[in-house]
Amino acid sequence: MTDSIRELTILQPDDWHIHLRDGKALSTTVSHAADSFNRVICMPNLVPPVKNIDDARAYRDRIMEHLQNSELSIERKSAFDPRMTLYLTDKTTPKDIKLAAQSGIVQAVKLYPAGATTNSSDGVTDINACVDVFEALEKYNLPLLIHGEVTQDHVDIFDREKRFLDEVLAQIIVKFPTLKIVVEHITTSDAADFVLTQGNHIAATITPQHLMFNRNHLLLGGIKQHFYCLPILKRESHQKVLLDVATSGNPKFFLGTDSAPHATDKKENACGCAGCYSAATALPLYATAFDSVGKIDKLEGFASRFGAQFYGMPVNESTVTLINTPMQVPSAYPYFDGY
Ligand code: NCD
Ligand code: ZN
Repeated sequence: MTDSIRELTILQPDDWHIHLRDGKALSTTVSHAADSFNRVICMPNLVPPVKNIDDARAYRDRIMEHLQNSELSIERKSAFDPRMTLYLTDKTTPKDIKLAAQSGIVQAVKLYPAGATTNSSDGVTDINACVDVFEALEKYNLPLLIHGEVTQDHVDIFDREKRFLDEVLAQIIVKFPTLKIVVEHITTSDAADFVLTQGNHIAATITPQHLMFNRNHLLLGGIKQHFYCLPILKRESHQKVLLDVATSGNPKFFLGTDSAPHATDKKENACGCAGCYSAATALPLYATAFDSVGKIDKLEGFASRFGAQFYGMPVNESTVTLINTPMQVPSAYPYFDGY
């Protein structure tokens, strides 16, 4: 925050894209998430994935158990509301979607093209086979959250997002014109432009790392694997456009950390996992990014209003105060490998 602004109070934010993982990992991830956010959309890429309403209920119960066992205040415990997602596979049925829509705990369905990212091997192999499921999503007004990258081996990793928009997403939108879609963790000016040209039912989340960093941070002077996530950081010109749209006050762009923890030995590895863990520091990171372009006044909309509006939920009533003071980001947290 600029020198003149030492403190900033905003409505309590929500995180519309987070990986909490499972098992003992929840004792760290749930506390971090619930410390900052009220509603969080929990990604379903566990092993095995969250495929149906029974899986979603059981996963939510495990999250709530860790919440109750945490040292968070009673206020934070009662404010935290994990919203669940189903992992779309080749076998998902319209009935799965109907039950999810009626459940009151499932907020959306997640599409991972098979092989696109961490734990996506059970993802969709043929989008054209999902017609019935997309129809059901439209019918029950359940949003489709998309990891937007093509997966063919020969496609350059830096082009995969744009190719998905042009070759896959554009067609889905034409075929299902009222389907609510969030293009998750956008990384390119192409994705920002794509979302801007669509109707209000098409939105995007943006992570803190894609606002703060570009591929030079990942690759220059040695590979920094802690900056490695998917979709991969792009060149600086893309980072600048993401900062422009995130701080523009346009409600199509809202907060989704994509906080994705991995055990140190899997991250710091010759074949290191994709994912950046930001749950504990996300708000200061976003505030730093917004402040870097003199737009701290736009943080509340992005972090606390636009996502709720998109999902048709009320904005939170409580507030959080950010204080502009130097902080050291811990190099690691206690974490028990869990998916
Ligand atoms: C995520 C993970 O680790 O689960 N990794 C990542 O690089 N973002 C999966 C995802 O959201 O792509
Ligand atoms: Zn993710």
